[in-house]
Amino acid sequence: MPGLLNGRRVLVAASGSIAAVKTPLLVSALVQAGAQVRCVLTASAARLVSPLALATLSRQPCLQDKDQWDPVRPRPLHIELAEWADLVVVAPLSATSLSRWVQGDGEGLLASLLLACECPVLAAPAMNTAMWKHKAVQRNWNLLLDDPRVLPLAPEGGLLACDRLGTGRMSDPVRIELAAASALLQATSQGLLKSDWRGKHVLVSAGPTLESLDCVRVLSNRSSGRMGVLLAQAAHLRGATVDLVHGPLQVPPSWLEGLQCHPVVGSAAMDDMLQQLQPKADAVLMCAAVSDVRRTSSSVVEKLPKQQLIGSMEGGWELVPDLLQSLVGRRSAGQSVLGFAALTGSDQQILELGRQKLQAKGCDLLMVNPVDRLGQGFDSDQNSGWLLGPGNHHQVCPLEDKLVLSHRLLDRLLEINRTT
Ligand SMILES: Cc1cc2nc3c(=O)[nH]c(=O)nc-3n(C[C@H](O)[C@H](O)[C@H](O)COP(=O)(O)O)c2cc1C
Repeated sequence: MPGLLNGRRVLVAASGSIAAVKTPLLVSALVQAGAQVRCVLTASAARLVSPLALATLSRQPCLQDKDQWDPVRPRPLHIELAEWADLVVVAPLSATSLSRWVQGDGEGLLASLLLACECPVLAAPAMNTAMWKHKAVQRNWNLLLDDPRVLPLAPEGGLLACDRLGTGRMSDPVRIELAAASALLQATSQGLLKSDWRGKHVLVSAGPTLESLDCVRVLSNRSSGRMGVLLAQAAHLRGATVDLVHGPLQVPPSWLEGLQCHPVVGSAAMDDMLQQLQPKADAVLMCAAVSDVRRTSSSVVEKLPKQQLIGSMEGGWELVPDLLQSLVGRRSAGQSVLGFAALTGSDQQILELGRQKLQAKGCDLLMVNPVDRLGQGFDSDQNSGWLLGPGNHHQVCPLEDKLVLSHRLLDRLLEINRTT
């Protein structure tokens, strides 16, 4: 997320979890993305990860409790740091530091700066599964969830350093970087984060689908799934529970953290999964690039000889039914639907075709985006286009990072929900 973090001041703090060994990776990624980074370690964290490593990677001294008591400082260090930061990231957050924070205990540099800061704070706990499930820890975590300045990144499941398979792994540094960019984008000037999708269930489709030519060859498209996955993450980071139905993706695997993922391959499997999940969704965001054609018969089990390939494509194919249109036909009252249309041609042609598609498909909003222009659309970081809505209205979406566009689309979807 280079453009979004460039020049932003991020304070990265680690407390005493073994996951602190991953904090240097996070610091390095943030610095490479152009952020100014300062680091704080608790006494326990400093026994698990080297302060010198963090100082070297952040190009700044790594600060610890003893620095708070340095008599040459003109201002209290915890206040100076709290006022300096645009964003604080606590990764990892230990059970002890979580407890101190929610109890209002300011003992130590990290604890006191967490009480002093008025910017958004990203909290990424890490601990053994039994510790995480302990009712005292859960009570503290739930208290944190009610803080409008905090972006909580609940721990993931997996193999833990204590050899246990369960919940407790810290969110991956690559996903924390994404969440940091998202928090900086959506924070108000008072440091409050939007949780306007909290309590809502969102269904997102992303990526391409693959149709078999024979048992080894496939017909697909250049969709990476980036737009749909970022939409899903943006909705989740704003509080939604998200089901993501996706074809093969080309995004960092940790971008799927926090989402309920349903991987599929072909258009028929995507259709089935969407039909299963649609009834519980408050909003459906159809971003997948579904194949247009597929074989009529079930897959060809052998590998066709090269000479027969062109001949085999001449018959036995059918158009894939329009998944977006069928989904709109099945929707319940109050379920909003956003569609995507990848188009080529002049601005005028795209807008005209987009309006016809919106009419035919009947969704609430249709994001039409050109896919024949360099540096945007399929398989790129940025996108632009027009968001078509009710009453022939359209909103111009300038070329911007797909995460920025995701938040824009979520804002608009909530707006039309409120007015209808
Ligand atoms: C090797 C080692 C690993 C630890 N891992 C964790 C952990 O993953 N999560 C956690 O909450 N505590 C963990 N602890 C315990 C904390 O370090 C301990 O509770 C400490 O008081 C945390 O203080 P702090 O939050 O000020 O860093 C670990 C301790 C040791 C010795």
